[in-house]
Amino acid sequence: MCGIFAYLNYLTPKTRREILELLVNGLKRLEYRGYDSAGVALDAADGKDISIVKKKGKVKVLEDEINSRINELDFEGTTDSHVGIAHTRWATHGVPSEVNSHPQRSDVNHAFVVVHNGIVTNYKDVKVFLLKKGYQFESETDTEVIAKLVHHIYLQNPNCSFRELIEQVIQQLEGAFALCFKSKHFPGECVATRRGSPLLVGIKAKTRLATDHVPILYSKDHRPHGRGDLPILPRSDSTAEFQPLEDKEVEYFFASDASAVIEHTNRVIFLEDDDVAAVKEGSLSIHRLRRSLDDSHSREIITLKMEIQQIMKGNYSSFMQKEIFEQPESVVNTMRGRLNFETQTVILGGIKDYIPEIRRCRRLMMIGCGTSYHSAVATRQLLEELTELPVMVELASDFLDRNTPVFRDDVCFFISQSGETADTLMALRYCKNRGALIVGITNTVGSSICRESHCGVHINAGPEIGVASTKAYTSQFISLVMFALVMSEDRISLQARRSEIIKGLQHLDEQIREVLKLDEKVEELAKDLYQHKSLLIMGRGYNYATCMEGALKVKELTYMHSEGIMAGELKHGPLALVDNNMPVIMIVTRDPVYVKCMIALQQVTAREGRPIIICEKGDRETQSFASRSLEVPHTVDCLQGILTVIPMQLLSYHIAVLKGCNVDCPRNLAKSVTVE
Ligand code: F6R
Repeated sequence: MCGIFAYLNYLTPKTRREILELLVNGLKRLEYRGYDSAGVALDAADGKDISIVKKKGKVKVLEDEINSRINELDFEGTTDSHVGIAHTRWATHGVPSEVNSHPQRSDVNHAFVVVHNGIVTNYKDVKVFLLKKGYQFESETDTEVIAKLVHHIYLQNPNCSFRELIEQVIQQLEGAFALCFKSKHFPGECVATRRGSPLLVGIKAKTRLATDHVPILYSKDHRPHGRGDLPILPRSDSTAEFQPLEDKEVEYFFASDASAVIEHTNRVIFLEDDDVAAVKEGSLSIHRLRRSLDDSHSREIITLKMEIQQIMKGNYSSFMQKEIFEQPESVVNTMRGRLNFETQTVILGGIKDYIPEIRRCRRLMMIGCGTSYHSAVATRQLLEELTELPVMVELASDFLDRNTPVFRDDVCFFISQSGETADTLMALRYCKNRGALIVGITNTVGSSICRESHCGVHINAGPEIGVASTKAYTSQFISLVMFALVMSEDRISLQARRSEIIKGLQHLDEQIREVLKLDEKVEELAKDLYQHKSLLIMGRGYNYATCMEGALKVKELTYMHSEGIMAGELKHGPLALVDNNMPVIMIVTRDPVYVKCMIALQQVTAREGRPIIICEKGDRETQSFASRSLEVPHTVDCLQGILTVIPMQLLSYHIAVLKGCNVDCPRNLAKSVTVE
């Protein structure tokens, strides 16, 4: 959902080629967030103007454009201190085009340029105000109003600092944003801020940093005077001092997420909503106009544990393929240090203090979007069984649309790989305001959902870069299973069940490896299917989530119509779709709904359907009804969905490759959906 990257070097000489490469590489790491267009802004070779290069399309197109302008951009020129800002876009306001790409500028002289992730909801009002002041707009974006507004405020208050200008600008903006600014009037300075969209600062210094906390400075409030017009704000007389990090030669990075900075530094600060971070003369300071909810006095410089290899493709042809094949390790990482197979105990450090409160709750609500929602569907039955509580599973957007009643004694789980999905985050705030206990299940340390939850579980799947979620799903699944195990640890009657599940979890990695060996067979199957228009995936019970998740993978990666059908519903409508032409995949495992699944299977074959069956290894009886079959190892019923979803991940991947679709960046999508 748009990626922001900015780089500032202070007293660390760099050629312009190096700076451009840094910016473009940063964008490549963030490309999964949006790939409609990309752009960079850096000081022009003459040192006076700002050069902007923007192109419609992927970052590679921008890179080629930059390389074709070597002379104009003065690749060999060296600079000691410099700010460059960059952006990769997922279009919301205005079609993907060069003029709608970021950076957006205030004017043809590039007084101010800005990159933005999010949506400014009151941009029309601001635009009307600026049009009245004589500003002319060149793009259809909401972002252009930000660039023009900062220019307007600057002209009224030419003595304001860069940071004070931005503080005034964000007081006029509604909606969600992460912003990075560069200005001709403030060379060598960068100001960045966020509200609702993620942003972090990476710090790389030659020597050790003098501190591991950056104090927060409270600036004077520039709130409007309410003149029915956008206010012309007075100059701030903030007396806040910059608090330098005591290192002269320093590099700063601003990025939408850590994958863009990890190859340069693992020391980062996750900015909070309404923080304004400013770098001037190599010193970083963080300002706020109002006290934050948690009343922190500083922002911690966190040392990330992420490794660069985790965000490289290695020998795989796409991140998605790599992430599918990482699942034997990622599921182990989810359980590591939490599940003791010998003592059969499970400890989830992030929620252990809240377990007594959770046990006393009225109901559990599991809320998420897309694949994350499916992980809740996949584990609902087990949660009901082991917690003996009512469990509601909700799509975040629908949950909000319904103004769902939420009570103080509800426990609400927010499941999100990115931890930034706007719908999920809004639902979280909705439940928090109603006094419910908030539990975050995320894959991204420092994300908004992590920070705003009372407690939570990191699924520890490692960075997931392919837009289609794969390993995060299986790790979310396991995290929720572990939660169910924790909730049932002192229930004597459930011990046998817990024990079989824990044994199942212990062997999951080997079994996933075995499923991954189906890859070639799945590729052959994909060859038979990729030219079809539609694909139905049917199952019930524990495997219903696999049907929905499989269909979502097929849709998003291959652009083929696909539907996950609850087999019990077949006779209530979907059966009409079945004939000898319609590809049908049926998931039939030896669980409590096996007999019912077999009835559905026979209903399909009776209509000349020739189903492809995903079943348990050695189940010849079920296979006798199949045109083709994929066998997965047997595990305990509630974990079987982990093994049946992997063939569906592989199938969607192979169909996408055969159709020539971009596996990591499916059209119209982005990894982290930070707008509603
Ligand atoms: C599909 C997919 C999406 C996400 C959804 C929620 O492959 O990845 O459906 O699951 O956008 O994203 P998170 O989990 O980041 O909240």
